[in-house]
Amino acid sequence: MKIAVINFSGNVGKTTVARHVLLPRIPGAEVVAIESINADDGQGQALRGRQFGELQEYLQIADDVIVDIGASNVEELLALMRRYRGSHEDFDYFVVPTVPALKQQIDTIATLVELSQLGVPAGKVRLLFNMLDEGVDLAQQFDAVLAFVAAHPVAQADPACRLGANEVYARVRNSGGQLDALVADQTDYKALIAKADNQAEKLALAHKLADRRLARGVLPELDACFAALRMGLIGESLGRQPQRKTA
Ligand SMILES: Nc1ncnc2c1ncn2[C@@H]1O[C@H](COP(=O)(O)OP(=O)(O)OP(=O)(O)O)[C@@H](O)[C@H]1O
Ligand SMILES: [Mg+2]
Repeated sequence: MKIAVINFSGNVGKTTVARHVLLPRIPGAEVVAIESINADDGQGQALRGRQFGELQEYLQIADDVIVDIGASNVEELLALMRRYRGSHEDFDYFVVPTVPALKQQIDTIATLVELSQLGVPAGKVRLLFNMLDEGVDLAQQFDAVLAFVAAHPVAQADPACRLGANEVYARVRNSGGQLDALVADQTDYKALIAKADNQAEKLALAHKLADRRLARGVLPELDACFAALRMGLIGESLGRQPQRKTA
């Protein structure tokens, strides 16, 4: 399965979704991050074209790839997809994370329009509602994007495909770890805290325990979000196995 995670907007959670929703639930998959196409080395367009060519070649030989497209490269990548006619067909799905802020919703709509104009069918495009405020109705938070897809059905918008705002993602990033590694961690932190002989050490261990609790807490939500993406039965059923073992 080949998935592009895309949005004109930065900071909507493309990397987070690629690493924490998709990667652990698609066995054998890897994330290819397109962050460097805009290299400031004076080669400009040629370099970009060549890198895109390499990406296309790679997509022909790899089986399971998640392409995480950094916001600064989305425009260029879509322009190249237009030039290399049919290249969007290399992807089985386009996952478009979106967040409640209005500017990001407008950028999301622009992304959906662009994908539709490229010829990507609605059945391949999935909205993912990210950074939800659980206290507020989803329809209210994403009114602009939902009104757009209601009028122009160019993407699948399943409200179950959602992630609440959760500090776990920042904490995982700061510790340089992987969420699934945290979840699987069997360390008896309470025993270690009892044995630790200074306050700083105890606090560091308490922090790790809190990280693990947060990671385990968010897991059902990640599973449900992935399932709601409905990326084929195989993906959905496989999605649950690694998580259940470690929970
Ligand atoms: N559901 C969430 N709850 C809380 N924080 C989140 C959530 N999703 C993402 N974040 C945080 O928001 C920030 C932006 O997320 P991320 O890096 O995934 O965005 P991006 O779309 O890949 O951005 P860019 O286009 O710059 O690559 C990160 O600090 C991330 O930890
Ligand atoms: Mg990113």
